[in-house]
Amino acid sequence: MSTLLEVSGVSVSFDGFKAINNLSFQIAERELRAVIGPNGAGKTTFMDIITGKTRPDEGRVIYGDKGASLLKLSESRIAQAGIGRKFQRPTVFEDQSVRDNLMIALKKKRGPFAVLAFRPSAEDHARVREIAGEIGLNTALARKAGELSHGQKQWLEIGMLLVQEPKLLLVDEPAAGMTPAERQQTTDILREAARTRAVVVVEHDMEFVRRLDCKVTVLHEGSVLAEGSLDHVTQNEKVIEVYLGR
Ligand SMILES: Nc1ncnc2c1ncn2[C@@H]1O[C@H](COP(=O)(O)OP(=O)(O)O)[C@@H](O)[C@H]1O
Ligand SMILES: [Mg+2]
Repeated sequence: MSTLLEVSGVSVSFDGFKAINNLSFQIAERELRAVIGPNGAGKTTFMDIITGKTRPDEGRVIYGDKGASLLKLSESRIAQAGIGRKFQRPTVFEDQSVRDNLMIALKKKRGPFAVLAFRPSAEDHARVREIAGEIGLNTALARKAGELSHGQKQWLEIGMLLVQEPKLLLVDEPAAGMTPAERQQTTDILREAARTRAVVVVEHDMEFVRRLDCKVTVLHEGSVLAEGSLDHVTQNEKVIEVYLGR
C-alpha cells in the first residue's frame, strides 16, 4: 500500500523548548495507527503540525499521491485536501438533530455556494443514514444532539468528519470520559473507518489501544521512541523506562 503522509525530520520549539524533536512518521492510505506517549510527549502538537495549526521550524510534511508539501498550505486548504481532525471536546450543534448535524457537515463539504442553496437529495439522505449506521446512531437520527450521551456526541462528531470523506482522519483522545461499552464501540467505529482511509488515533487507554489492534507509535519528548505492535513496543526497554520510571 502506498504512503499517504510522510513527516520527516520535523522539529518545533516553543520559547526555546523543543516540543517536537526530529520527528519522522509515515502512514499508508488505508491504515489505522495508534499514537501513545506520556503527557507532554508532543502528540497534540504533532497533529497541529499535520493540520497546519503549528508550523515546524524544520522538516518536511508530504501528503498524497502527488507528494504535495502541507507546509505551504493554509489550515483550510489542508482540510480541503482531505485531512479531518477531531478534537478532544465534541463540538456538535446541540440544538439540532443528529440528522441535521450530519447534513450540515455534508453541506460544508460542498463549499460556500452549496450552503446558500442546499436542498438535500435522496442520495444525501441515504448517505446520512449510512454514516449514522457506521457510528451506531441510526436509531437516533431524529434526536437532538444535546440529548445524546458524551460518547454518542463523540461518535456524532466522528460521523460529521466521515461525511466529508477525509483521506486522513486524526482523532485526539476519543475515549476520554466514555463508559467501557462506549469505548468498545469507538474502537469498532475507528477500525471500520480505517478500512477506507488512514486513521491516526491518539489515546492513553492501553485496553483501548489493544482493541484497535494496529501498529503503535510511541512518542516521547517529541520523538518516536518505538514503533510496532503493542506487544512489541510495551516490551521495549526505553518504553518501559518512560512509563514505569527507573
Ligand atoms: N502553543 C504552545 N506554546 C508553548 N508550549 C506548548 C504549546 N503547545 C504545546 N506546548 C508544549 O509542548 C509540549 C508538548 O505538548 P502536547 O503536544 O500538547 O503534548 P501531548 O499532547 O502529548 O500531551 C508540552 O510540554 C507543552 O506544554
Ligand atoms: Mg494532547
